[in-house]
Amino acid sequence: MKAEASYYIELEHHYGAHNYHPIPVVIEKAAGIHVWDTDGNRYFDFLSAYSAVNQGHCHPQILKALIDQSQKLTLTSRAFHNNLLGEYEKYICNYFEYDKVLPMNTGVEGGETAIKLARRWGYHVKGIPDNKAEIIFVEGNFWGRTMAAISSSNDPSSYAGFGPFMPGFKLIPYNNIAALEAVFASNPNIAAFMFEPIQGEAGVVVPDEGYLKKVRALCTQYNVLMIADEVQTGLCRTGKLLACDHEQVKPDILILGKALSGGLLPVSAVLASDEIMLTIQPGEHGSTYGGNPLACAVAMAALEVLKVEKLGENAEKMGEIFRYRMQQLMQKTDLIATVRGKGLLNAIVIKPFGNNKSAWDVCLKLKEHGVLAKQTHGDIIRFAPPLVINEAQMHEACDSIEQTILNLH
Ligand SMILES: Cc1ncc(COP(=O)(O)O)c(C=O)c1O
Repeated sequence: MKAEASYYIELEHHYGAHNYHPIPVVIEKAAGIHVWDTDGNRYFDFLSAYSAVNQGHCHPQILKALIDQSQKLTLTSRAFHNNLLGEYEKYICNYFEYDKVLPMNTGVEGGETAIKLARRWGYHVKGIPDNKAEIIFVEGNFWGRTMAAISSSNDPSSYAGFGPFMPGFKLIPYNNIAALEAVFASNPNIAAFMFEPIQGEAGVVVPDEGYLKKVRALCTQYNVLMIADEVQTGLCRTGKLLACDHEQVKPDILILGKALSGGLLPVSAVLASDEIMLTIQPGEHGSTYGGNPLACAVAMAALEVLKVEKLGENAEKMGEIFRYRMQQLMQKTDLIATVRGKGLLNAIVIKPFGNNKSAWDVCLKLKEHGVLAKQTHGDIIRFAPPLVINEAQMHEACDSIEQTILNLH
């Protein structure tokens, strides 16, 4: 006999660390834009595993690549060559127009790798004195949970109680060019500026138009590497292949993750020029699983799907419909303070309602209406469905969101 959802939830609670607070739904299968719970209820997935499932759940081509490769060769480590790594490296370098790639697994490892590269470049190429390199970050950044990532965070729920922290990091306000120029001018030992072109976890914070271009210009002027963390915004999520493409800027170091595997396994990548990449030599950085042949096969299939299915264009169109529908909804209720986003990375800000109720309560209600989404930073709900969603499905999901919100009290 099949167990109740509460059984699975209790198991996790009893045996798992309490480092997450999930919406109480137990998902057992998925396809495309939908997931099903253990009771057979179907939902629109409007989180896409934090934008890892851009190509839709269990995409048949990506699955095929996984199954075919897993029957031949899955892992060699980098102690030996394998017949897929070079093919994948060539493929992804051509795809994004960079000289070289350094393959890793998770997004945060991509961030760590980018920082190591930037520090190396700072010492070997820019001529920064030993151990003096600084990396500039922005307030509200989120790039993972390692010690380096939390050392650059100004969110107490990330860093509090985990010190001491990594030195050599500095924070400035996001979307503030004057602050960036001031910090660059204040210190000749800055190796890099690392930021998200749209802040994801901060609540889908879209900078002013022109910000990316100005960042690019200042980084060039001060000989500081521009590191774009496109782990969440990249791979067609915001309506273009990269969010940086909205302003036609090319970062010196590009970090990708999440949808690089379409949600099948952890795959991340750091792309850069020879000048930057070759500052790291054999034995100085790596990962047992980084660049494994299974990941290489899956990532090539995942990238191919983005292109063949024109998912950037679809994200752009569907995003317009979503924001239009939410703006219409805003006219009918005073519970929504803001609607914002780009492509299919969107958010609404919920005003407090009822008896101390918040965005979390809205997400619980959305679940009852067949839409899965998750709040971030208290009052913000991010809406990021798989990019394969079509117009009719988008309207159906927006109808459910509308009904949920209009019935809140
Ligand atoms: C912008 C950004 N960078 C990095 C990461 C970390 O990725 P991972 O959880 O795969 O380590 C995330 C995760 O949400 C992210 O949103």
